[in-house]
Amino acid sequence: MDKIYLDHNATTPLAPEVLDAVTSVLRDQMGNPSSVHSVGRSARVLIDEAREQVASLLGVSPSEIVFTSGGTEANNFALLGVALGLGKTGGHIVTSQVEHPSVLNPCRQLENLGFRVDRLKVDELGRIDFKELENCLTESTLLVSLQHANSETGVLQDIERAGEIARKKGVLFHTDAVQSAGKIPLRVQDLPVDMLSISAHKLNGPKGVGALYLRKGSPDLFSPVCGGSQEKKRRGGTENVAGIAGFGKACELASLSSQKYSNLSSLCDQFLQMASNLIAGIEVFGDLENRLPNTLNLGFEGVEGDTLLISLDMAGVAVSTGSACSSGSGLPSPVLTAMGIPIDKINSSIRFSLGWSNTMAEIEKAAKILAEAVSVNRTGTHAERAIKT
Ligand SMILES: Cc1ncc(COP(=O)(O)O)c(C=O)c1O
Repeated sequence: MDKIYLDHNATTPLAPEVLDAVTSVLRDQMGNPSSVHSVGRSARVLIDEAREQVASLLGVSPSEIVFTSGGTEANNFALLGVALGLGKTGGHIVTSQVEHPSVLNPCRQLENLGFRVDRLKVDELGRIDFKELENCLTESTLLVSLQHANSETGVLQDIERAGEIARKKGVLFHTDAVQSAGKIPLRVQDLPVDMLSISAHKLNGPKGVGALYLRKGSPDLFSPVCGGSQEKKRRGGTENVAGIAGFGKACELASLSSQKYSNLSSLCDQFLQMASNLIAGIEVFGDLENRLPNTLNLGFEGVEGDTLLISLDMAGVAVSTGSACSSGSGLPSPVLTAMGIPIDKINSSIRFSLGWSNTMAEIEKAAKILAEAVSVNRTGTHAERAIKT
């Protein structure tokens, strides 16, 4: 049975061109990019080309791109790099309650080292409050780090407005764009953003490679991965040449595909429409107006999200939940919790995240399978409302 994969915010399939790029490097390019001989130099050329492709997707200069082992390292680099590079103990960082753990956990580490961290609240649609941001900036604020798109709800923060507020106060601004890069256009040069994180495997590239954009003129950061003088001494370690080449190719493909954005958005809207026509008691979590074109976080009254996930999986549809079981944390989704969603609703939620390869036929089939799975799993007084007549 072919799976209908609707979990692209977790990871995406490799584009065939990316697979070709990665395998050809693994097969034919064994050089170390730091070697002076021609074998090494040809590996260096591949990295330079990839740096241009990544920079071009973001609309920045190649010299502003630092390759990392993924989005997690890029976020760690921004947070720890600024705090430990510029800060004195007691320095202040502002982030939000709905960030990815790769932002929240370095913040916790920094608190243990004596830094002060404010985590902005969000409203019921998952949006931060700009007044709260403005009010919490102080003389000692070193960095504001706010995500561009939330992985669980797809909600987009207005990073332009947030970055302006930080810039007016002379505070560096970092955004985690791991979920938005490649899904919506990003012209970073025109945004008040000093640092931005992206990850290859979220845009049809390989796992284990990403980048931090560091605006020219940014202060020197502490480097959490130090070793050799790779990446202009900003990140040590022999480069993942095949991964970086694949990342570059994935960014090139994403740059060429503006039409795809509207296709994905309409596919997602139609999925919601079909599901709502078939199933009673669906609730949408997050701001439907300002979100990624591919993401829907839906609650199904009277159904356990984890049970529904397993039913869907058995019927050939791959999705995820933000609930305690599937995240493995033992806690309900911190994102939906921060949005004030009651626990029973959080436990009924499923994230659908579509990708470029999904078709209308798949979406129609998935909506029918979903309706059937909701009907089977709905309990008690909700049961008779399972399927609309
Ligand atoms: C918003 C966000 N930031 C960062 C990451 C971490 O990226 P990576 O898996 O490349 O470490 C993820 C991955 O799920 C993410 O969704």
